[in-house]
Formats: sequence, C-alpha cells, structure tokens
Amino acid sequence: MGFGRGKVILLGEHAVVHGYPAIAVGIEKGAHAEAVPAERDLLLLDPWDLALAPDPEGGEPLQRAFAAVLRRYDDRPPLEVRVTAELPAGAGLGCSAAIGVAVIDAIDGVLRITRSRAELGEAALVWEEVFHGNPSGIDNAMSAVGGVALFVRGKPLRPIHSRKPLCLVVGFSGESSSTREMVASVQRQLERDPDRVGNTFAAIETLVRNATLAIEGGDLIALGQLLDLNHRLLSSLMLSTTKIEAMCQIARDAGALGAKITGAGGGGCMFALAPDLDTADRIREALGREAFVAEVHA
Ligand code: MEV
Repeated sequence: MGFGRGKVILLGEHAVVHGYPAIAVGIEKGAHAEAVPAERDLLLLDPWDLALAPDPEGGEPLQRAFAAVLRRYDDRPPLEVRVTAELPAGAGLGCSAAIGVAVIDAIDGVLRITRSRAELGEAALVWEEVFHGNPSGIDNAMSAVGGVALFVRGKPLRPIHSRKPLCLVVGFSGESSSTREMVASVQRQLERDPDRVGNTFAAIETLVRNATLAIEGGDLIALGQLLDLNHRLLSSLMLSTTKIEAMCQIARDAGALGAKITGAGGGGCMFALAPDLDTADRIREALGREAFVAEVHA
C-alpha cells in the first residue's frame, strides 16, 4: 500500500510560491493507493468512481499526471493503481499531492524500488505540476514527510520541533477552489502592484520566522496571534470569502487562539488553533459536521 498524507499550511501560503518560507504540518488523513501488475495501465479513483488510462495529452489532468509519473519508470509491467482518498478535493488540504505521493509510493512498492520519504516527495512534483502549473512543492514534500516543518522552495524541509502538541480544528467551507487560479490571481496582483504585494510577502515572512520561534518555545498564544495576522494579509490579497471569514469568527468565539485560511483560499478550508483538546472539540462542534480535529506532535 502507498500512502500520502494531507497537510495544513500554518503560515506562508502563496508567499511560498515566490521563494518565501512557509510552515506546514502533515495530518493523518490522506490518500492510499495499491498497485498491481495488470494487462494495461489504469488509474482507478474510488472516491470519484473514475477509471483513467494515462495520456500525456488527455483532457483530464489525472490522465496527464499519471502519464508523467509512469514515464519516470523504465522497464516495468503495465500497472493498475487503485486510489482511495480521505480528503476533500480543491479544499487546501493537499488532496492532489497526497494522491500523487500515494500512487508513486504504491508503484515503488510493487517494483521494489526503495527511496526515502523526502525523495518520494520530490518525485511527486511532476504530478503536482500538472495540476497547479507553478507549485512551490510544499504540498508534495509535506505529504510524503509529515511532521511540522519549515519549507523554502527548492530546499529540503527543515523539521521544527514543537514543544507542545498543536491542536488544530480544520473546517471546510464547502466551496472548492482551484489552486492554479488562486496562484495566478496573486501573480497578477504582484505584476500590477509589486510594492504592495512584495511588502505583504515580506510581512508574511516575518510572521513565519516568529511563528517558528513560537512553535519551538510552545507559545501557543503568540502563535494564535500570528495566525490571525497572516489571515488578514491573505484577505488583503483577496483570498478569503464571506464563508471563511464567518467560520474563523465562529472558531475564535468558541475559544480558538487564532484562525485562518489554509492553502490556496478562495474557498476551501480554514483552521483554528485550540489551546487544548476540550476546546478543540467545542470549536469542532461550533463549526459543524465536516470539521475535524488534528493533533500534531513533532
Ligand atoms: C497550496 O496548498 C499552497 C500555495 O502556496 C500554492 C503552492 O505553494 O504551490 C497556495
């Protein structure tokens, strides 16, 4: 079985595409894949009831991504790869990267190829490029490696030791969004107004540096404040929605130390930092059925 985990970006999304650092955590929910020798190459995606042949020119991105991955293996039998995913798609939790990592992990397993989890994450970048055009690589790296880490584009993940477990409550707005479009929208803003957007990225970098210290020092109150500030900066890049704003407020009213968009924005998920598991449960109830608690130790 291959496995790729989902991720929650704590701080730094979007700026990370432009070379600034970001902090993310791996979560238990993810995607599983199983590969078996078969008569022809086929990708079966149980959650969406899809069966797709690889095709570098295919109309469905999954066909192109599967083809891009298979091209990397020489001398192999045809393979049928079956995927199950526990993450909503287009929600900012790294569903596509988790599937890519799980697929490559499963193919490596059946072909008896060994590589480290970090190398597995790197190998999944070709998969992500099909979906997101200009991915920073944070989703595939975190999906393979997990934990709590600082990511800078093109560099190895730097694990962050968290002095206290991080109690996160993740809520899905019910609105999917396209990472490719949200990244392109920020790129257009950067071209139109380089000073404003450049300053926003620089401010996000300062928050990321301070958040690293807050996580290492176990200062959850400071971390919560940094999350709120990062959320405001993302809103100023027009990445929030009425629904996400309402959910962040509900979470803060229920005792969250901070709450923000996670991932590409424009819908998708938000998350809240809770001071403890009891408060996390209260926040989850306030956010509704689809919210879930992720406790991260590192
Ligand atoms: C998507 O999970 C995070 C973004 O920063 C895009 C990327 O890093 O590739 C929005």
